[in-house]
Amino acid sequence: MRLLSVVLPTYNESKNIPILIERLTKVLAKIDYEILVVDDNSPDKTYEIVDQIASKNPRVRCIRRIHERGLSSAVMTGMASSSAKFYAVMDADLQHDEAILPGLLKAVNEEGFDLAVGSRAAEDGSFGEFSRLRRFISWTATRLAKMLLPGDVKDPLSGFVMVSREVFQQAEEKINPLGFKILLEFLGRVPGLKVKEVGYTFRNRVHGETKLSGSVIRNYIVALMDLRFGHLVSPIFILYCLVGASGILVYFLTIAIGDWLGMPRIRDMGPPPFHSVPASWLLGFALSVTNNYVWNNYITFYERRHKSLRLLTGIITFFLISLVGLLIQTSVSYLLASTGLLASNAGSGINRGIGIIVAVITNYYLNLNFTWRKQRR
Ligand code: GDD
Ligand code: MN
Repeated sequence: MRLLSVVLPTYNESKNIPILIERLTKVLAKIDYEILVVDDNSPDKTYEIVDQIASKNPRVRCIRRIHERGLSSAVMTGMASSSAKFYAVMDADLQHDEAILPGLLKAVNEEGFDLAVGSRAAEDGSFGEFSRLRRFISWTATRLAKMLLPGDVKDPLSGFVMVSREVFQQAEEKINPLGFKILLEFLGRVPGLKVKEVGYTFRNRVHGETKLSGSVIRNYIVALMDLRFGHLVSPIFILYCLVGASGILVYFLTIAIGDWLGMPRIRDMGPPPFHSVPASWLLGFALSVTNNYVWNNYITFYERRHKSLRLLTGIITFFLISLVGLLIQTSVSYLLASTGLLASNAGSGINRGIGIIVAVITNYYLNLNFTWRKQRR
């Protein structure tokens, strides 16, 4: 059994990977190691470069995944296909400093730690020439992680990690493969880990580009909520509720503005209750539904989001379901009021509240199964 397996996830790193492998060969010269590159069928054919190197260097192996994508899942694939005693994970873009690998190994192999982190925030560590914007994003994301998760790792977002085989085995089936943050997954899924942080300076990328994008931020939030609340409720449902709350805000804001502008009421629409419905109410409803549709489409149901023409049928379906929700909400509160069980007035807080809860849940399932139903490939 090998002592160390270095797992290198790659996506379009053809220029970086040969340099990194050469550097690793030098740093790890005295260690029994292997290098496992997990490439997700990169368009720049990183896998071909690795295969070439592997044909001459028996310590190097390339795993090419055709149908899967994703950083955490690539790391899991790499670890699962190796039987070393310890696993290191690092970026293949030369941003992580390979010189601390022996220090990380020592921590888990000799000093009794369960996990060692290459840390930008520990002593001797630095974020390097991080742009102001990235520093801010990283700072916010770190705060969020610290708020929601136990432990006091200074750089919980690091992608530079060393774990023992045992720790990997305790985490493997629980890890959320959608994530970008493998360390957070280990920290969140295996409680009570003894962690050592080893400082290093984050380097600038020279070749290729980062895969950090808008969806990564969204997936990060989903992954965090899954770690913290996943045993209770789906993170998608939490997002759905947050979007709903923003819709309520839009609704009341529109009505307030409408009242302020003295927007006319729709008087001549026939018998009550229609004649007393203010135009601003209709506008408020329309705007809040539109608001909810947009956020749900680009955040809550991101993986299933509608594009181009689908947006049109999507928003119509969403509108109809929202109307159904309104119907459910009012019927439930009227029904409850008629039983007089809690309060005899449909508009009272408790009857209304229960109506809203029932409507939110039914609408969630309706939207999940109709508006954003899974598309077959
Ligand atoms: N196989 C595979 N599949 N590899 C991927 C994928 C993917 O979908 N996405 C990214 N990678 C690889 C990249 O090729 C690179 O080797 C590594 O994962 C990191 O990706 P970057 O796009 O360079 O991410 P980053 O620099 O913005 O963020 C990284 O560094 C941070 C600081 O250590 C990540 O590792 C973060 O998790 C980490 O916090
Ligand atoms: Mn990078």
